[in-house]
This record gives sequence, C-alpha cells and structure tokens, in this order.
Amino acid sequence: MKGAMFGPFFVSEEMSDNDKTESYGNEIIAAIERATGLDEIEKIRVAALGRSGVVTGMMQALGKLPKEDRAAAGKSLNALKTGIEERLAAATRKFEAAALDARLKTERVDITLPVKAGITGRLHPISQTIAEVVAIFGEMGFRVAEGPHIEDDFHNFTALNIPPEHPARQEHDTFYFPETAPGQRKLLRTHTSPVQIRTMLKEKPPIRIIVPGRTFRSDHDATHSPMFHQVEGLAIGENIHMGQLKGCLIEFCRAFFAIDDLPVRFRASYFPFTEPSAEVDIGCSRAGGELKIGAGGDWLEILGSGMVHPKVLANCGIDPAKYQGFAFGMGIERIAMLKYGIPDLRTFYDSDLRWLRHYGFTPLDTPSMIAGL
Ligand code: DAH
Repeated sequence: MKGAMFGPFFVSEEMSDNDKTESYGNEIIAAIERATGLDEIEKIRVAALGRSGVVTGMMQALGKLPKEDRAAAGKSLNALKTGIEERLAAATRKFEAAALDARLKTERVDITLPVKAGITGRLHPISQTIAEVVAIFGEMGFRVAEGPHIEDDFHNFTALNIPPEHPARQEHDTFYFPETAPGQRKLLRTHTSPVQIRTMLKEKPPIRIIVPGRTFRSDHDATHSPMFHQVEGLAIGENIHMGQLKGCLIEFCRAFFAIDDLPVRFRASYFPFTEPSAEVDIGCSRAGGELKIGAGGDWLEILGSGMVHPKVLANCGIDPAKYQGFAFGMGIERIAMLKYGIPDLRTFYDSDLRWLRHYGFTPLDTPSMIAGL
C-alpha cells in the first residue's frame, strides 16, 4: 500500500473493511491537520486521492470484494473521500490566506513617510487643469465619461448633425485612416463631442457628464497643435433649460479663474449639434499690451455651448419631445494658458524639464472645491 507519508496504518487483515477505511481516514485527516504549508497539502492530496493514492487504490479494490459487501464498503469509501476533499480544501484556503497576509505585511508601503525633498516630479499643467475642471463640475453632479480616440464618421460627425457634405467637416482638418471598405474609414476624433453620442446611446437620461480627453486635427502652427485636449459637457433631462446652461458655465468660469465677479457673456453662435448655440466670453483687459482676466472692458472667447439639437437627441434614441439638454466644449490648453499665463502652446508638448518645473504642479495638492484650486 502506498501510504508511507501517513505513517504506520493501523490495519490488519482481521479488521473489517469499514474499520480499515476508518483507520486510513483517521491517518489522512491527522496528516492534513499536521501539515504546515501548501506544499504538504498537495503531497497529501496526491498520496491520498492521486492516481496511485491510497483512497484511489481502495476504490479500485472494491471490485474484488464479495458482491454483498460492495455497496456498504463503497458508501463508506465515498464518505471518506468527500471528507478528505473538504479538509484539503479548507486547509488550502487557510494556507493561502496566511500566505496573502504574509505578503501584505512585507509589501506594505508606509505612506506617512515624508517625500524626499527634490525627488518629486511635477504634474503637467494639462493634467492639473483637467483635475480642476473635473473638481468644479464634479461638485455640480457631473461625472467623468471617456471614449475612444479612434472614431468613426457616425459618432464624430453624422450623429452630431454634421452630414457628409456639411461645411463643418472641412473645418475640422480630420486625420483619416485608410479605407477598410469602400466609403468606410476610421478617423482620429476631432473633438470630444462623439462621447456625447456614445453616452446617450448607452445610457438613459438623466445624464450629466464631462469628458476630458485628447483630440486631433491636422493643423500645426504657433496656436494649433495636431494633438490637443478638450473637455466636453453634457446634461440631459426632462426639464433642462438654457438658464441652467448659463448658471453652470458662469459658475464654472468664476470658480476656475478664481474671480468671484468675473464678467461672463453669452454670444449667439452656431454649432450643428446645438440650437440655439452660444459662445462664452469672459471679461479681460488688454491695457498696456498685457492680458489680464477680470473686469476691464474687453472680452475673450473661452468655450462653445448650446441646447442639444433635437436631431442629435433623436439620433441617439432619446425622445426630443420629452427630453432636452445642454452641451458645451472647451480647449484645455487654451484655458490653462489663460489661467497660468503660459504664452506658447508648443511648449506644452516639448517635455522640457525646466518648463515643467516652472509651470508644473506638485502632485500632492489635489484640486478640490474645498481645499481650493
Ligand atoms: N465640438 C466643438 C469644437 O470642437 C466644441 C463644442 C461647441 C462642443 C458647442 C459642444 C458645444 O458640446 O455645445 O469646436
């Protein structure tokens, strides 16, 4: 009998089959209880239940028993096997939990340790600005949504009420991928607005999202980069009106620029996906050639907005007779440059460490409406 690891088996030929089973069982169970680790448990499992294990051997020997004894012996053997399996499983769980505990102890990081002076990195102004925008709209009940950079025509244009021959398509300087089938080609999203469509297609109103993310246009000069960032906003519900659009955006501008009496003006405009549409300007002064945000008689455009076009709602399966919404979109780099006085767009992407040290933010100050932006 291959059972060496269970020590001497107290079985003798005179014992009944049931007694033998019980004796083997007690041995194996005692071995499980003595085991001190997963390796031993595995060895016991193989020695007892493996292909040439003790219990397996006894199962095979059942066939040689006289017919009248077989049923009873089979039953007690099965009970033994189940008992062993359960104990092996319990012991495995116990050792796994202990191993995890031990690992958690050794891998612990003491987050109360002070950061060594001089070795902290800096948050890029784009990351910081996104965090600030998220903090402000988060406080108003908006949550962050995201979508893919590689889009299709439907989400980037058509569903946003920009059909194939629409002049807005030319304005977008789109990067297209090669055709996959006649008339079918993917593109790099030219704005964050396609995430409006993706969200409305998969969620039911009320919806309140903001979408920070990368956008791409084939345009490169001192004030344009082929890759830049936008934040989109969308609120859909049964009683959404333009007053709420204005309230949210005025509040946002004042919180973001930290100027309580910042003048904000809504100027009628046009976007295919909103009706009516408005561009939002903030007050500034350009006295002495220096741009200063705040009261001053001049205006600076910072974002586009409007009431979601009924056709856009319908394109997403939302009943425009029941629901309305507002949307807005703005360029992250632009508002970051204005707020932090960064004069040149191109420096955002230069990865110049001196620039980052100067304009970057310490990663330990998370922007929040309570602690301040
Ligand atoms: N998608 C526009 C752009 O890239 C920005 C925009 C304007 C977004 C008005 C909106 C909106 O959601 O309502 O120029």
